[in-house]
Amino acid sequence: MLEYLHDNLWIVRQPLNLLGIDFGTVMTIIRLQDHSLWIHSPIEPSDELGRQLDALGSVKAVVSPNTFHHQYAEYFMDQFPDAHYFYAPGLEKKKPKMISKINISSALSFGTTPEWSDEVESLAITGMPFVNEYVFYHKASCTLIASDLLFNLKKNQSFWHKVLFPLMGLDGAKPSQSRLFKYFIRDKKKYNEAIRKLEQWKIDRIIIGHGGLIEKRAQDIIPELIAV
Ligand SMILES: [Fe+2]
Repeated sequence: MLEYLHDNLWIVRQPLNLLGIDFGTVMTIIRLQDHSLWIHSPIEPSDELGRQLDALGSVKAVVSPNTFHHQYAEYFMDQFPDAHYFYAPGLEKKKPKMISKINISSALSFGTTPEWSDEVESLAITGMPFVNEYVFYHKASCTLIASDLLFNLKKNQSFWHKVLFPLMGLDGAKPSQSRLFKYFIRDKKKYNEAIRKLEQWKIDRIIIGHGGLIEKRAQDIIPELIAV
């Protein structure tokens, strides 16, 4: 179930079927130097997953990286009530009851430096107030962790794939941005400033919320994300 990617870095995939397409969803697990776990985009917390996480370390931080990736957060936090929940700004308005039920929570925001930020840096994708995605960089493995910034789904010959991939603006053969994500870019200047900041990092691998890992020429994809 857990997929080992690098020292102290794993992912877990869970199916996510929408409109005849399995978008899948990916949870990332980083074990910090103090052996606590940093969890990105939590999935459904099964007993088996709980046992596997317990074997790796204690869950200390759980991140919902944008205003969409929160579907399982409440159930997950129920299972790990002592963890600190970090959420994208705006989620407190969208899901106030959920946030209020969680013991310890904070919005990700400019200027905040959670204690894990020495090992996992964060960057706000600005100019998209309805999404407010934050991306993260695991320094030890040179891994960028994104959610909806990119998709990397393979197109097959099924009816739904043939119809919906072009409608959604997805390439189906290589990583691409969805039409919906691009629609949410409301301030291109601010958005592009954030994308240029991604170039500060040496990126060997990109984990994305939906689709396969990007491990070949990962760094080269960054300039393609500039909005024109
Ligand atoms: Fe997503």
